[in-house]
Amino acid sequence: MNVISILDVGQDFFSLIERTRKLKEEARKGVFKNVLRNKSLAMIFEKPSTRTRVSFEVAMTQLGGHAVYLDRESMQLGRGETIKDTARTLSRYVDGIMVRAKSHENVLELGEYATVPVINGLTELEHPCQVLADLFTIKEKKGDFKEVKLAFIGDGNNVCHSLLLGSAFVGMNMSVATPRGYEPNKEILEKAERLSNKSGCEILVTNDPMRAAEGADIIYTDVWVSMGQEAEREKRLRDFRDYQVNTRLVKIAGSPLIMHCLPAKRGLEITDEVLESRNSIVFDQAENRLHLQKALLCHLLASQG
Ligand code: CP
Ligand code: NVA
Repeated sequence: MNVISILDVGQDFFSLIERTRKLKEEARKGVFKNVLRNKSLAMIFEKPSTRTRVSFEVAMTQLGGHAVYLDRESMQLGRGETIKDTARTLSRYVDGIMVRAKSHENVLELGEYATVPVINGLTELEHPCQVLADLFTIKEKKGDFKEVKLAFIGDGNNVCHSLLLGSAFVGMNMSVATPRGYEPNKEILEKAERLSNKSGCEILVTNDPMRAAEGADIIYTDVWVSMGQEAEREKRLRDFRDYQVNTRLVKIAGSPLIMHCLPAKRGLEITDEVLESRNSIVFDQAENRLHLQKALLCHLLASQG
C-alpha cells in the first residue's frame, strides 16, 4: 500500500489515529518497542526539509529500524537513471520508500514500480503526512472533527489540498480564502466536495479572508512562496498582501487555535505576535509528525516480508 494522497489511507485512518495516540503515550513514558527491527526506510529528498527528514529518521530509530537519507543529486537518479529502475532497485534493499519530490507524477511512477510501500513526503500537489498529523493534533485539542471549522488563509497549495481532502473525509467544516488565481486545484476541490456530501460537512472557497475566518475554531496558514516557486516571489508577495494571519483576522474568528505546518515566514503569511500567541499550536503539530509517522510506518512496514 502506498500513501501518495492522504485519501490512500482510507478507512485505516481511524486505527492510525488510535495507534498514534498509543505510541505518543508510550513515548512519554519512555517505552519504545522494536516493532521494525531490521527494517529500513529509504528517504529520497529533492527539496530541503527539517521536520519531515528528522521526524522520519527518528521514527525509524525509535521503532528499532533504520532510515537511509538520499539526496537526489547524489543518487544515479540525478544522473538520469530512470524512476522505474530506481524504484525496483531500492525495493530489493529496503522495506519502504519515503520521497519528497518536485513532481507528483514522479511519485506516482515510483509507487507504480516499487514493490515496497511508497510514502509521499511532499509534492507540489499534496502533503499527506503533514495533514494526517494535523488531523491527529486537531482530535487531541478538540476531541472530535464534527462541528469544528478550520479556515485556511493563503495559497491553495499542497498543504491546503491535503487539508481539503482530509477535512472532507473526516467531516470537518473547512473554508479556504486565497487571492484570485491561487484557488485550490479544481480536481482536488471536486473530490473534496463529493466527500463532504458523504461526511456531512461544509466546504467554502472564497477570495475573502474575513468571510473564511468567521466563526472558525482553527485558523491555518502556510507560506506564500512554496519550495520551487522562488521565481514568482515578488509577484506572490504583492498578491498575498491582504491574506496575512494577524490579530485583526484572528479577532474575526474569536479565539481560534492557530496552525501552521512550518517553516513560517513571520511578517508575511503570519505575524510574529499570532505565531507566538497562547492559541498557537504549531510546535504540537511539528511534534505529532513524529508520532503519526511512527504509526504509519508500523502500519505499512511491519507486515512486509
Ligand atoms: N512541515 C514540513 O514538512 O516541514 P519540513 O519542510 O521542514 O519537512
Ligand atoms: N507549501 C510549502 C510546505 C512546506 C512544508 C512548500 O511546499 O514549500
